[in-house]
Amino acid sequence: MKSRKRVVTSPVVRSTITPKRQRAGWPLRATNSRGSVSTPGTRSPVRIEPGRGGAPGTAGATTEAPPAPLDLSVDIGRGLVFANPILVASGTFGYGIEYGDVVDVNRIGAICCKGTTLKPRVGNPPPRVTETPGGMLNSIGLQNPGVNAVIEKYAPLWQAWQTKVIVNVAGESVVDYVEVARRLDGVPGVAGIELNISCPNVGKGGLQFAIDASAAGGVTAAVRRVTDLPLLVKLSPNVADVRPIAKAIEDAGADALTAVNTLSGIAVDPGRRRPLLGNVFGGLSGPAIKPVALRIVYETAQVVSIPIVAIGGITELRDVLEYLAVGAVAAQVGTAIFADPTLPVRLVDELADECRRLGLTSHQALIGTALPARRGSGAASAKGVEYRP
Ligand SMILES: Cc1cc2nc3c(=O)[nH]c(=O)nc-3n(C[C@H](O)[C@H](O)[C@H](O)COP(=O)(O)O)c2cc1C
Repeated sequence: MKSRKRVVTSPVVRSTITPKRQRAGWPLRATNSRGSVSTPGTRSPVRIEPGRGGAPGTAGATTEAPPAPLDLSVDIGRGLVFANPILVASGTFGYGIEYGDVVDVNRIGAICCKGTTLKPRVGNPPPRVTETPGGMLNSIGLQNPGVNAVIEKYAPLWQAWQTKVIVNVAGESVVDYVEVARRLDGVPGVAGIELNISCPNVGKGGLQFAIDASAAGGVTAAVRRVTDLPLLVKLSPNVADVRPIAKAIEDAGADALTAVNTLSGIAVDPGRRRPLLGNVFGGLSGPAIKPVALRIVYETAQVVSIPIVAIGGITELRDVLEYLAVGAVAAQVGTAIFADPTLPVRLVDELADECRRLGLTSHQALIGTALPARRGSGAASAKGVEYRP
């Protein structure tokens, strides 16, 4: 058998990323340097140098010669600008408030809050989470207090933050999504909406919006009509070909795509020989899904012109650089936060350091380096480089 050619996307970018025997923040019960187990919320916060990796023009001056100004900002469109490209993923950082004692939330590019629905939801029956090799399965079931409570309780607090808060919106019908978006429109503190379309459309026999181009485009267009808020739509990895779906969402007026949500999976309780999760099905997240998410960002970046924010298995800077290389303009950290809530802020600093080391004044030059030369042509399929079993 012929040995596979190793594709080197950007040797400069990869060269300083030290291979680690164990990825930072993984497995979930991470051990510290002395080998003792730490739990989320008990670590000391990372000391942040003022101005490092933050808003444009605020790069810190720790050496004798002042470093070139570094601009890590990301413009999503419709006035939504993140100070840096490291975001936190929906469902893994609560409403941001919960982490205020552990991290300086203002250092994060943006926060995607928990999934928010029209009415309060109690979520799925327990057990709701289980760890898997290289990941975790969750079936939280969108437990949340409902959009009115989010507007009353959290939005006023977000208003005082520098970091942008994007409300992740879920629903069971187009009417649900539209009503939640309508209520969020114009609320101070709400910087944008991320549509979680990996939800069953009750009116269409439970078919998920995210797995059908016409349903995904339909719900996007309906929400677009009722809000001027920046609109991000989150792709599902549970599809045969994401490209027509991504295109339909772009055509329907989304400002950006986020990719990806969790992969559908189940776990079996070996003792009871039954499904382990109370809901049977759960969503797989963590390092195990990164290759799938990378492939989806890579494919999507070649068919849409709107920005893509990548999500899936990020635990270290190398992951962020890989997502930028396949065309993402920013990245969200999710499951790894449970092991180390300080990771997103550390990644901001590490990305800034990497840009400085490469002599860059922004991370823009790192975006899309692994994409085929001709963008927008669907070239990857035509060349037959995809693996289609
Ligand atoms: C416990 C948990 C809850 C989540 N809740 C939501 C949610 O409410 N809305 C949503 O769009 N995605 C939700 N997600 C998916 C994440 O936002 C993210 O897309 C996914 O976990 C992949 O990223 P990761 O591998 O870095 O965790 C959740 C993930 C986890 C682990």
